[in-house]
Amino acid sequence: MSLYKAVYSNFLNPISDKKCDFLENYALIAKKYANGYKIIKICPIKEADEFLKTKRSSEIIYLEDKICVPGFYDTHFHWVQDEVREMPKDNLLDWLSNHTWPYEAKFKSKTFAKNKSREFARKIFENGTIGGACYGSIHKHSVDTAFETFVGDYVVGNVLMTMNSPDYLLQKEHKAKELVTELSKKYKSKYAMTPRFAITTDPDTMKHGAKEAKKNSSFIQTHLSETENEIDFVMSIYKEIEGFKDVKSYTEIYDRCNLLGPKTIMGHGIYLSQKELKRLSQTRTAIAHCPTSNAPLKQKGLGSGLFDFKKASKMKIRWSLASDIGGGPYLSMLDVMNSFVAQNTKKEKGSTNYSQALFRSTLAGATLLGLEKESGNFMQGKYLSFTCLGDRPKGSSLKANEILTKIIKKSAKNRHLYQDLVEFCAYRGVNFMSKY
Ligand code: GUN
Ligand code: FE
Repeated sequence: MSLYKAVYSNFLNPISDKKCDFLENYALIAKKYANGYKIIKICPIKEADEFLKTKRSSEIIYLEDKICVPGFYDTHFHWVQDEVREMPKDNLLDWLSNHTWPYEAKFKSKTFAKNKSREFARKIFENGTIGGACYGSIHKHSVDTAFETFVGDYVVGNVLMTMNSPDYLLQKEHKAKELVTELSKKYKSKYAMTPRFAITTDPDTMKHGAKEAKKNSSFIQTHLSETENEIDFVMSIYKEIEGFKDVKSYTEIYDRCNLLGPKTIMGHGIYLSQKELKRLSQTRTAIAHCPTSNAPLKQKGLGSGLFDFKKASKMKIRWSLASDIGGGPYLSMLDVMNSFVAQNTKKEKGSTNYSQALFRSTLAGATLLGLEKESGNFMQGKYLSFTCLGDRPKGSSLKANEILTKIIKKSAKNRHLYQDLVEFCAYRGVNFMSKY
């Protein structure tokens, strides 16, 4: 492998909600390190030609008429739900009981899990996703096989289901605890302690898991306030549980189980009181917002509602975008971005744009995972990871947001084309997917 690797292209480089740079006819030059290629120079192509002339061992990837963005981070998805993404949905709790749980039971078979994870890993990488936070099934090997097959920076956890679950998925408390202890110790900061949600995971198991996660610097992920039915059910269950009879909110239940903190990612968080939001902010707990999953039934979502990202941002809550495969029907973060912009624009014109959506699908996600110094956008010192979105739209002096709008709008006419949109994808300059 060559010592230097360069990409010649046009790059959209997300910096913040409001700022996305457009690097036109630019080069990213990277140098080989132990774990991949790191960017050492970002400059106009001409300058890169001069620089590389002096280097004996170099390789150039020519994507000069294309648009490249950083690889996507998907901070909430279930890898074991690929086949229920497009199943009929009426509401969260029925969809879980009728489709999702029976399907997740199949992952008991190691062979089935292995084959599915290989296939799923290829699919998400083809969609330009290079990292995120992922839920497996209750089975230990659903975590092991994900780590063996996924290309990118993933944290993964086995869901914990110790109560209010069907027999075929129900775990004994002590077994669930043992599994968390074992996997948290084994995978450390790559592990995510994953109570499915307060309905299916008893508080003792959650407390134990939180302790183990903290001991091993593991992440914590779960679902919070996705639908109103769910919240009612949660509150009715905990009213009967010793030590929780006086809890006032869903967030407070997790808080009492010591689940909140800077390494915790809560999925959804649509229906939260001011007090709950404040507590999430105080504890630096993050939210993964899943617009395609929360979207109306006719858009193949679960019709859960719309996360108020403005309120969350105002309260300095850390959040990023996520697909919630299979509550979310689509694998591609481009679909997630499109849905985020469409739903919020419908609610309030001008409230967001694609450039903000890109930031929340790349650098913001990497930041939630503590990877902002090595990934998430194009900067000197970060790994050479990128996703090529095909031809550069025509038109001179277009701004980043206009370029993204053109690309996404064009594909949005046929939503399933997002997968075809990504033509080339690189993770750390070492793993590649190419349609050329
Ligand atoms: N809440 C508990 N489990 C799930 C799940 O698998 N998907 C979604 N969207 N919400 C959940
Ligand atoms: Fe989910």
